[in-house]
Amino acid sequence: MARISSVVFSLCIAACALAAPMHRRQIGDLDCNLARLKVVSDTAAAQTLVGQINTTDLATASAVGVAQAGLNSINSAIEDILTAVFANQTSPADSRNQLEQGLNTANSALLLIKDPSANATVSAARAKLLAAGAAGDQVLSGCK
Ligand SMILES: *[C@@H]1O[C@H](CO)[C@@H](O)[C@H](O)[C@H]1NC(C)=O
Ligand SMILES: *[C@@H]1O[C@H](CO)[C@@H](O)[C@H](O)[C@H]1NC(C)=O
Ligand SMILES: *[C@@H]1O[C@H](CO)[C@@H](O)[C@H](O)[C@H]1NC(C)=O
Repeated sequence: MARISSVVFSLCIAACALAAPMHRRQIGDLDCNLARLKVVSDTAAAQTLVGQINTTDLATASAVGVAQAGLNSINSAIEDILTAVFANQTSPADSRNQLEQGLNTANSALLLIKDPSANATVSAARAKLLAAGAAGDQVLSGCK
């Protein structure tokens, strides 16, 4: 009995060792792609919203510029992370930091906008940013 099960077990080790990584990889790639698409689409939505803010006021214009730079940084970081993931490498710490900093930069810049007429747009943009951040976390935790 002990012998049979240990044979079955070793067969499984041999077969599963071959099959499991491929299987896990396929599921991982799909999830990773979906999470990446979510980061990219939420970031794009935030960019569109931020682009609608009236920048006649200089302080607002400056905050909008900083927010846009943060959003661009998020996009390039997520591409670098996914490129590494699909090349079987752990995502580079620099890109992880860049992603986090981009999110923080954009968020704190948006919080500086005091123009009441931009409130609704700023809130909507920050909601998209939060969604992008959540999807970014998913990429970092699920796509190793
Ligand atoms: C932007 O704000 C300025 C100053 O408040 C205003 O004169 C201008 O009409 C606004 N532009 C738009 C497109 O709303
Ligand atoms: C990724 O790693 C797995 C297991 O180590 C290997 O089977 C696969 O060929 C690698 N893929 C790439 C694109 O290097
Ligand atoms: C915008 O936000 C400011 C500060 O939070 C608030 O005083 C103001 O009433 C808001 N304006 C609109 C139109 O929601």
